[in-house]
Amino acid sequence: MDIEQLKIVFKEHFAELPDAIYTAPGRINLIGEHTDYNGGFVLPGAIDKGITLAIKATGYDRIRVADIIRAFSMDYIELSDMRLAQVEAPAQPWAKYIYGVVREFEKRIERVRGFDVVFYGDVPLGAGLSSSAALESAFAFALNDMYGYGLSKSELAKIGQATEHNYVGVKCGIMDQFASLFGKQGNLIRLDCRSLEHQYVPFNPVGYKLVLIDSRVKHELVNNPYNRRRESCEAAAAAIRKRHPEVEFLRDANFAMLEEAKAEISAEDYIRAEFVIGEVQRLLDACDALVKDDYETVGQKMYETHAGLSKLYEVSCKELDFLNDSAKKYGVTGSRIMGGGFGGCTINLVKESKYDAFIAGAVADYKAKFSIEPKVYDVVISDGARKIG
Ligand code: GLA
Repeated sequence: MDIEQLKIVFKEHFAELPDAIYTAPGRINLIGEHTDYNGGFVLPGAIDKGITLAIKATGYDRIRVADIIRAFSMDYIELSDMRLAQVEAPAQPWAKYIYGVVREFEKRIERVRGFDVVFYGDVPLGAGLSSSAALESAFAFALNDMYGYGLSKSELAKIGQATEHNYVGVKCGIMDQFASLFGKQGNLIRLDCRSLEHQYVPFNPVGYKLVLIDSRVKHELVNNPYNRRRESCEAAAAAIRKRHPEVEFLRDANFAMLEEAKAEISAEDYIRAEFVIGEVQRLLDACDALVKDDYETVGQKMYETHAGLSKLYEVSCKELDFLNDSAKKYGVTGSRIMGGGFGGCTINLVKESKYDAFIAGAVADYKAKFSIEPKVYDVVISDGARKIG
């Protein structure tokens, strides 16, 4: 699908041409998992897969459709008609994201105006690549730009995150939406999730490739243990805070503080916090190693993250652990579960010289074991949300 084709589809549905085309990407994360809602650091980058939309402002036309949003999803081949005054969320799950973004805009600006939109995506769903953040960011960016609402990109990221919290039910951190909006080609983003201060870290590991292997176990964050992980972290931080009032998030805690609070928290909360405190440090160590082009250390930290996500945070599954073992077997420099967990992809940092043997071997082994062919995605670190037509 190219821009011209998208315009034609738009015209077929709404009889006119769109005003503009926007796109926003999914993301990878090199290291720093489940640290964002603990006020810690993450190291994501935007990818070359995303949500693309063609949109037309209708909100200036007071008589006709000022109060209406008409959205057509090309992937689901469904139309959703929403009135801006409508109180209940639309029925289609995908339309809830659009509804949520619009409602969150309304909390920040005076009046949201209507629009017609057609969109499609090429971020694999349920693979941990943040297709939902791409959707939220594409709509937030497009509305803000098209109607000149003047919100900052950080505020747009918060709109996407609040959409997840209030209309989808996932109490996620800010990483995915931030990466989708702030992504920069060839760069990772070292983001402090408390202050939202961030630096771009050029990522061009000469002699290595970043590749994702998709277990094709659907990762599903709604009504699932993701929110419970967050509650555990908050309970552990609250227990530590009794002795150390300066601890706002687990990011501020250390292992000695956690040990002091051990008797006051559940064994489960303890191991969750143990993972997070270790992960915050691992990310900082990996960043130091990156600056020195020391990819062996980065890779070792990735393996440590996987072990922690599997044994302490318990967000892995047998398929992802198998893929991680495969990476070791084929001499991959670093490998781990990426994103929220419970399925989705592993991210692998692999020497170019070992790439072909790893992909062929890991795919064949996985297929032999689980009778499913895993998907392979080469990572291309790309730009964030933008207008493309
Ligand atoms: C999901 C959430 C993010 C983050 C990751 C885990 O992708 O949306 O906010 O918590 O899981 O690092």
